[in-house]
Amino acid sequence: MCGIVGYVGSDQALPVLLSGMRMLEYRGYDSAGVAIVEDGEIDIVRKAGQIGNLEAALEGNEPSGTLGIGHTRWATHGGPTDGNAHPHRDCTGRVAIVHNGIIENHDVLRAELVAKGHTFESETDTEVAAHLIEQIISDKGSTLLEAVTEAVNILEGAFALVCVRADEPDVIVTARQEPPIIVGAADGVGLVGSDVPALLGHTRDVIPLDNRQIAEVRAGSVRLYDFEGNELEVQTVHIDWDLEAAEKGGYEDFMLKEIHEQPDAVRQTMLGRIDSNGKVSLDEVHWTNGELKDIDKIVIVACGTSYNAGMAAKHAIEHWTRIPVELDLASEFRYRDPVLDNRGLVIGITQSGETADTLAAVRFAREMGARVIAVTNVVGSSITRDADAVIFTHAGPEIGVAATKTFLGQLVALNVLALYLAQERGSMTVDKIRETMAAMEALPSQIEDLLEIKEDVKAAAKRYSEARDIIFIGRGVGMAMALEGALKLKEISYIHAEGYAAGELKHGPIALLQEGVPVVALCTGAKLYDKMLANVEEVRARGASAVIVAPRGDERARDLADDIFEVPATKPLLTPILDAIPLQLFAYYIAKEKGLSPDKPRNLAKSVTVE
Ligand code: AGP
Repeated sequence: MCGIVGYVGSDQALPVLLSGMRMLEYRGYDSAGVAIVEDGEIDIVRKAGQIGNLEAALEGNEPSGTLGIGHTRWATHGGPTDGNAHPHRDCTGRVAIVHNGIIENHDVLRAELVAKGHTFESETDTEVAAHLIEQIISDKGSTLLEAVTEAVNILEGAFALVCVRADEPDVIVTARQEPPIIVGAADGVGLVGSDVPALLGHTRDVIPLDNRQIAEVRAGSVRLYDFEGNELEVQTVHIDWDLEAAEKGGYEDFMLKEIHEQPDAVRQTMLGRIDSNGKVSLDEVHWTNGELKDIDKIVIVACGTSYNAGMAAKHAIEHWTRIPVELDLASEFRYRDPVLDNRGLVIGITQSGETADTLAAVRFAREMGARVIAVTNVVGSSITRDADAVIFTHAGPEIGVAATKTFLGQLVALNVLALYLAQERGSMTVDKIRETMAAMEALPSQIEDLLEIKEDVKAAAKRYSEARDIIFIGRGVGMAMALEGALKLKEISYIHAEGYAAGELKHGPIALLQEGVPVVALCTGAKLYDKMLANVEEVRARGASAVIVAPRGDERARDLADDIFEVPATKPLLTPILDAIPLQLFAYYIAKEKGLSPDKPRNLAKSVTVE
């Protein structure tokens, strides 16, 4: 997830671009770059690292043109180097583009363009778009708008593109297929951004592009087209946030913003996971079929929320692949003398890729001869160097300390890995795999729908915000969610919370129950539904309040619950991905009710780089 800005007007473009990029830096900070059109040329300056590095490179060398584009990068294809930093240009240097997303057919296009004589400078998927536009312009004498319109019909995948051309020094062309693009025009100014904050210094009347739309932005005007080239009516949206709130996209806190970004996080992590033959595609796992069949045991190592994702994944992996799975807290793993050899596969899960315990665990596993797959959200993070294969969750930068969208990204990535192993080892039928992938593809819109319950969750949070203890119970994957619900709550609300296997309640924790103690019961898993409701009866018999996360429309759960959060139906092993939403909102609204800042809980850091 990258940050994109564009400016055309009568002022120098550079300061406007840099301030817009600062506002979007939360979207990625692997590199930053600008392209400024000046005197019939395009001047590109780009640097790996944060915007400060770019500013240092620009010192004494500031282009003064009045049209330009800028980019802050969250690396996907190609490491976070100067050479892979955006903007990218064509062979002539007369077209420059910035991009957010993944161009899935970049390798095919690159080969075709190389055969036509194009030379590439970077390892990115993005650069093909610059050469493709150059090729169209040289073949047909097209304008930038015409060339971009043709190119977007050839590109596959997800892209927000912003393009400039030295020979058309008064226009920026931008196109959207999935990742967001907002454009705007004010007095003598034209603007582009991947989020509203980048435009707010100039206008509060913005035009968010819909999917498959192209905008031609000039100083003071915007024209809108579809991918077929038909002109569309421009519809403006008025924004009433102030600039400070805008960085959070109008949300009060990053955590709430990130909770709302989850449909997109899931969509991005799923992107490109089904190939043209309907098979699960996981190029990152480059082992042969025979090698995959050889795996006799999987060990998952992780901490905190990532561990909870691992617990849910253990159920899916064992059920779908029939490979035995051990789950370890990374901080415990290497001290327990584990049994592991070269037939073992270790999965290290860490959103930051920098958690010291997880890094130490995977290094130890490799020393023992095991293969290591890392699941992480951060390109270029340490774990990517310590693993044999890396699966990225494309959730975008997560700023709130409480993991939300990266947790969903992990669950999705781990399910894809499990289905891939099942496919390659032949432990699941092709139809079952397709059916499960289809259910996963439906999740983003189900999450969008589920987010509508936030007012109900907020009202319940108000009732329970004074509780001293809150107990979470679940069975199977529901137990992983009980742990996650309790972790989320305790880290941002400071209420004592515990997650238990529901069947364990009567072996001790039930002694904690009395009038007024809330118990959150995860009841969405079909297999153990009756047993979960029996546990809820036990809870109620002790005077505790039952907060039930239940399948939507379930009358039995409604009759038993003091509060109910209803969740749409999905496959039982996918329920954690939906159950997470009310649990995150519950923790968030309790923290807010208590006047706490969910983004910066006391004593915690976003990534824990000490053992
Ligand atoms: C999650 O809300 C926590 N802040 C914390 O438990 C976190 O999941 C843990 O520190 C592991 O981090 P990682 O995923 O970056 O390795």
